[in-house]
Amino acid sequence: MDLSDLEADAKAKLEATFYDYIAGGAEDERTLADNQDAWDRMRLRPRVLRDVTTIDTSTTMLGARVSSPVAIAPMAMQHRASPDGPVATARAAQATGALFCMGLFGAGSAAQVAAVPGNAPRWLQVYVMADRARSVEAIARSAEQGYGAIVITVDVARQGNRRRDARNRWTFLQSDGQVEDPNELFDHALTFDDIAWFAERTPIPLVVKGVARGDDAKACVDAGAAGVVVSNHGGRQLDGALATADALADVVAGVDGRAEVYVDGGIRRGQHVVKALAMGAQAVFVGRPVMWGLVVADQKGVEGVMRGFQDEVERAMALCGATRVDEIDASLLAEPGWNRPRG
Ligand code: FNR
Ligand code: LAC
Repeated sequence: MDLSDLEADAKAKLEATFYDYIAGGAEDERTLADNQDAWDRMRLRPRVLRDVTTIDTSTTMLGARVSSPVAIAPMAMQHRASPDGPVATARAAQATGALFCMGLFGAGSAAQVAAVPGNAPRWLQVYVMADRARSVEAIARSAEQGYGAIVITVDVARQGNRRRDARNRWTFLQSDGQVEDPNELFDHALTFDDIAWFAERTPIPLVVKGVARGDDAKACVDAGAAGVVVSNHGGRQLDGALATADALADVVAGVDGRAEVYVDGGIRRGQHVVKALAMGAQAVFVGRPVMWGLVVADQKGVEGVMRGFQDEVERAMALCGATRVDEIDASLLAEPGWNRPRG
């Protein structure tokens, strides 16, 4: 899998302003760069001489079976990336047994995505709108539509300062041509009490996305969240925020086994996935690589990306002596001082 080549192919095909919207991050793009660097900085302590003839990469996310611990992150504007929009992504997810988290904002129809047949779970991501009835309605429909969880994204108290988008005068255009302004639409008064309010009214599990600290993660679980996604929105919101790989351990400790912890941001290799699981994540989400696949070859392109991740996870597990994902434990991680002998 060569995701840099895939991105280059997508860039060649796209209008520059849309490429910038997808690829870019906030301000000086330090957090964007650090997300991937932080996974790259970590080192593994592989186990050898285990029988790794057969590797099972499958796992569960909130109890639902997935073929690997790599899921598809919610992303707006998929209707501009492919003629079939998020339906192509949903089909690719079903074809590869991956969880797809559909994003409701500027992305297409949750009902059409829900109608794609298959057994892989799908989740629905929503923003809490200032007009709360809109979010409540979408959430109410989602359970009937077969979504397995609602994901509320909470790292958007203001839209990030994306300089490429400002230069390009980027606007969010819905599939029907309507302009959407996140700063006007989203509820900026959201607190943990609102998470509790939604958790009580949502018939399916609630996941909070965009958590960067253990104390916040604990408060989300206290409010009724069944899962938290450690995320800085792919470096698109607060530049200078710590990389998700560096935030994960604190969140895992804060949650203390009471909910599932997921992570996204800069995950580009199977070995990054193994590192995330070794730190205590249940699964990871990938964003931009899926968008590049969608731009280059629609459903087939996304399938290629997901299969690429699955192959790399399988190989990295074999080379770490882990035949099942529950054998990926903290001992596989090199800790500070890793170059000295262990007691
Ligand atoms: C996003 N992301 C995002 N997150 C979310 O909760 N709702 C959304 O509508 C969007 N939209 C969106 C669009 C685009 C083009 C990108 C690149 C990202 C963030 C996304 O879910 C995820 O957190 C990051 O993309 C993960 O980082 P990587 O894998 O892209 O580095
Ligand atoms: C973004 C918004 C839509 O990252 O979440 O572009």
